[in-house]
Amino acid sequence: MFTPYYRPRRLRKNENIRRLVRENSVTLDDLIMPLFVTEGNNLMNPISSMPGNHQLSIDLLVKEVQELHSLGIPAIILFGIPGQKDAIGSDAMSQEGIIQRAIRELKQAVPGMYVITDVCFCEYTDHGHCGVIRNGGVDNDATLEMLGKQVISHARAGADMVAPSGMMDGMIGAIREALDQEGFSEIPIMSYAAKYSSAFYGPFREAAGSAPQFGDRRAYQMDPPNAREALYEVELDINEGADIIMVKPALSYLDIISKVREQVNLPVAAYNVSGEFSMVKAAAQLGWIDEKKVALEMLTSMKRAGADMILTYFARDVAKWLQGS
Ligand code: PBG
Repeated sequence: MFTPYYRPRRLRKNENIRRLVRENSVTLDDLIMPLFVTEGNNLMNPISSMPGNHQLSIDLLVKEVQELHSLGIPAIILFGIPGQKDAIGSDAMSQEGIIQRAIRELKQAVPGMYVITDVCFCEYTDHGHCGVIRNGGVDNDATLEMLGKQVISHARAGADMVAPSGMMDGMIGAIREALDQEGFSEIPIMSYAAKYSSAFYGPFREAAGSAPQFGDRRAYQMDPPNAREALYEVELDINEGADIIMVKPALSYLDIISKVREQVNLPVAAYNVSGEFSMVKAAAQLGWIDEKKVALEMLTSMKRAGADMILTYFARDVAKWLQGS
């Protein structure tokens, strides 16, 4: 009988030694909670495909953020659902838009919470695309100008960081220039640098009412089979002045997170997107998986792949699990 000389199992014997040799973990410090804000008062519309998440009116958003703050979550990312949509997404750039009012209220009521804004037009346009339409497609360069206006309005309202997600070429450079010209050189940009055209965004589009009314986003978001192209996108965004690089989605793109981590020295963010969240919730509701264990295993895999921070709808749950409640 062969007797092994090397025995890795020695370091797995009990929880104490496992804790000592553990290489990665998910902590509160990693978490960014996405939230949806809508017009109205005392309004809390459940998002059916994302149990525990709601479209919140500003007053209830403030309460939610107070709770997240007391749980120790360092940051939120805000998505707006405007009262009025139009061809250019005017609400997204207005000082009286849903997001701008929400930021002002939040910064006043919960100054300790770090507020990141998603910068895109798909929730604000009546056609549901991420910019202005010309000749049947999204006009890249005309959209850049609008992105500049959008970030300035967020910065004026008090946003701590902006996160452009529209996958327009040159968006980081255009946004950096716009912010700097208006005196907001200290506001960082988290770029959705490698954002794939993914079916995992399905539940989000219900949540944000942002499904495209014609066609799809494949002419601007990345093609899922491509990996090297992600590194090119990341390189461009770094050259244009991005401060944090995001890979999105996370779970089916752990290889991309890992490659990006190896290539860049900026912080890397992973977006654990709506579909990844909903699959876990649904299977857990059916009693097929252990929600807490599966969610933590997924999030840990994103850390192991190299993410420094994770945008996740599990943030509130994780904070409670870590507290032991
Ligand atoms: C675009 C945006 C989307 C998500 C974040 N920002 C949707 C899209 O590109 O269609 C998806 C997030 C998720 O699925 O959780 N503003």
